[in-house]
Amino acid sequence: MTGATGVTGATDGPGAGNGLLEGQVALITGASGGLGRGIALRFAAAGAAVAVHFRTNAEAAGEVVTRIADSGGRAVALRADLTVESECHRLVREAADWGGGVLTALVNNAGVQPVQELPGMTVADWRAVADTNVSSVFACTQAAAEWKGGPGGGVRSITHIASIEATHPAPHHAHYSAAKAAVVMHARSAALEYGPYGIRVNTVSPGLIDREGLAQAWPEGVRRWQQAVPTGRLGRPEDVGDACVFLASPMASWITGHDLVVDGGISARPTW
Ligand SMILES: NC(=O)c1ccc[n+]([C@@H]2O[C@H](COP(=O)([O-])OP(=O)(O)OC[C@H]3O[C@@H](n4cnc5c(N)ncnc54)[C@H](OP(=O)(O)O)[C@@H]3O)[C@@H](O)[C@H]2O)c1
Repeated sequence: MTGATGVTGATDGPGAGNGLLEGQVALITGASGGLGRGIALRFAAAGAAVAVHFRTNAEAAGEVVTRIADSGGRAVALRADLTVESECHRLVREAADWGGGVLTALVNNAGVQPVQELPGMTVADWRAVADTNVSSVFACTQAAAEWKGGPGGGVRSITHIASIEATHPAPHHAHYSAAKAAVVMHARSAALEYGPYGIRVNTVSPGLIDREGLAQAWPEGVRRWQQAVPTGRLGRPEDVGDACVFLASPMASWITGHDLVVDGGISARPTW
């Protein structure tokens, strides 16, 4: 099956229809974008009802909802600007209300990836990335973890989408790399503090994920990646989605505070 991103296997293929998330209600932030769409479709394929969050792209979110409904699943599109703390809390409440008082999983995926050199970067530029990529993760996590579900309805797993750039910075991405490193450390801290309440918090760190037009927009980057990565290809949104499904599932019930790298093996390469 080919999705709007041109990437295959979003609702079929390995891992689909596995029932791993049967009975769960999941909120996926940034599900109008490339990765979020793949994560939402994989959660639905694993049996979860999915709240598909977007900020501006209602059309893309609606397409994800339709695709899930057409496959026999349950989904709703919910709007929020996650740089606003009250919107993070409202979004979590709306998702839980839609789930009938049940919200069991949150994936903090929404984020921006601007490219900018350090010389000339302003504090406002820095803050814009930190607000979207880190403060929103803090606020959504707090809202979800401290939301009181009905019996059996509370949040059990929270997964942040970080990046391999949290540990291997790329040029002109200082604000982004620093934000992703903060997200990894937030998850480890949250794992410590929310663990006693039965809530697991992890990160998934993707490598370069394919999207429509990427090879045309950045041919030299894609070529370098394909030459360097041991598995010989770019990542697909569903590669990340499957990792998130696993972390939200009972199979990961003793995994928390972990960073799961999903990068086709590129981080295993010697750097010298
Ligand atoms: N693509 C990669 O190769 C890659 C690799 C590693 C990590 N990641 C991470 O994966 C995540 C998704 O990346 P992507 O490539 O899928 O990006 P994308 O296609 O640009 O999607 C970004 C998503 O974030 C939402 N968003 C942006 N600012 C927001 C805000 N202020 N409030 C609420 N939502 C906001 C967007 O919503 P609207 O469009 O509806 O406004 C969209 O749904 C990001 O955290 C990114 O850092 C990506």
